[in-house]
Amino acid sequence: MNQLNKYPRIDAIYKRVSCRSFIRKEIPKQILEEIINAGTMAPASGNMQPWEFIIIDEPEAKEKVVTCTFSGFYSKGSLNQHWIEDASIIIIPCVNFKRTVARYGDLGYKLAPLDTTSAVQNMLLAATELGISGCWVGGFLEKKIRNLLQLPPYVQPLGLVPMGYPAKETDHKQKMDAKWVVHKNIYNTPYFN
Ligand SMILES: Cc1cc2nc3c(=O)[nH]c(=O)nc-3n(C[C@H](O)[C@H](O)[C@H](O)COP(=O)(O)O)c2cc1C
Repeated sequence: MNQLNKYPRIDAIYKRVSCRSFIRKEIPKQILEEIINAGTMAPASGNMQPWEFIIIDEPEAKEKVVTCTFSGFYSKGSLNQHWIEDASIIIIPCVNFKRTVARYGDLGYKLAPLDTTSAVQNMLLAATELGISGCWVGGFLEKKIRNLLQLPPYVQPLGLVPMGYPAKETDHKQKMDAKWVVHKNIYNTPYFN
């Protein structure tokens, strides 16, 4: 049993779901700005804020981005995730390593992607709160997208995040109960029963 259930909870966390079908409706710029701002409120190592976001909002540009995607681990480069084209925008979260590596040396290469991932989760939650859905897309060819977006070597694309107004309700995936993933003091001793 989830022992936190009897306390107030943040609705967006429980409402968020990966959405892969969208209606044709633009996301107003102010709303998009709110979503990005939520991203920039994320924790970041040394507050170096290594995130940068590329927003793809033109149909032709979206099509080009989709040619950099693949679905299924073994289909690299062959089966593009065409559903992404229907999204109002594609946000491409990138890590700019310069500041974090200047501060932490090689450790910065581990930390900066974690910071940027937190920013993306904030954005997905803010979007949910504003009636917009999205999805992390990790199935992309890094080299191809680097070329397409003309990224400098110190900027790494982390994924694609298509966003838009959902075309239908998406069922929530089953999540593991806290009792399976929480340990008390040492590994393999249940915290929750
Ligand atoms: C790093 C990462 C990569 C993902 N890559 C893809 C992807 O390439 N295509 C896709 O449709 N969903 C992708 N997803 C979404 C997951 O399939 C989804 O989060 C998972 O099934 C749980 O569903 P939920 O997000 O609705 O809770 C990815 C999620 C993460 C966190």
